[in-house]
Amino acid sequence: MRKKIIAGNWKMNMLPNEAMSFITELEPYAKNAKCEIILCVPYTDLFYSLLTAQNTNIKIGAQNMHWEESGAYTGEVSPNMLKCINVEYVIIGHSERRQYFAETDETVNKKIKSALNHSLKPILCVGETLEQRENNMQDAIISNQIKSALKGIESIENITIAYEPIWAIGTGKVATKEDANNTIKIIRSTVKELYGDNVAQNVCILYGGSVKKENAKELFSTSDIDGALVGGASLKVDEFAKILESM
Ligand code: PGA
Repeated sequence: MRKKIIAGNWKMNMLPNEAMSFITELEPYAKNAKCEIILCVPYTDLFYSLLTAQNTNIKIGAQNMHWEESGAYTGEVSPNMLKCINVEYVIIGHSERRQYFAETDETVNKKIKSALNHSLKPILCVGETLEQRENNMQDAIISNQIKSALKGIESIENITIAYEPIWAIGTGKVATKEDANNTIKIIRSTVKELYGDNVAQNVCILYGGSVKKENAKELFSTSDIDGALVGGASLKVDEFAKILESM
């Protein structure tokens, strides 16, 4: 059985006191969840969140990192900075980072390698634009993103992949379960090409983009969607708890 994960991506939201209350309130729901739960929080919430989530089954992740360990990179945070406070997961290559902060397939690849070298577990995000989807280019685009991101990486045992069509993020336009499942199958077959069938059958692949309590169950009923990366709907405990219950 493949691992199931529901991860929240808080983006640039939540102050430390809000993060601590959220985790405390989520805990009773998290206890009964049938999946791994990860909250990817802003840097300033990491330490407070990790302390509050101690002795719970809620894992904490960051939303980005630099690939270097240290140096003259004003404003950046390094993998060993995350690791030394016990952060376990890190989102890499989110479309908002690619779009607004000039991340490329090349920097995504460097970050994935560096995260793995520091025993952090990357959540690798890939996804196509609306124009690419309208021109039916999504399969080629996604497959290329996966190949570039994983270039030179021997084992993907600690990598989770998130398929997030850019046109579905924050827009309320969720992909149909068939479209999301089909594209995730393309990701699985790309992984198979690179690492063989066994690895492809075991890699955990999430869907992200306007996941809500109303559509989660349907998405989770498919053959290849192993969970979700949730943005807006991960900011309210009751909404996020309902998504956990849908698994
Ligand atoms: P959304 O964001 O759920 O608000 O669409 C998902 C994401 O960006 O990871």
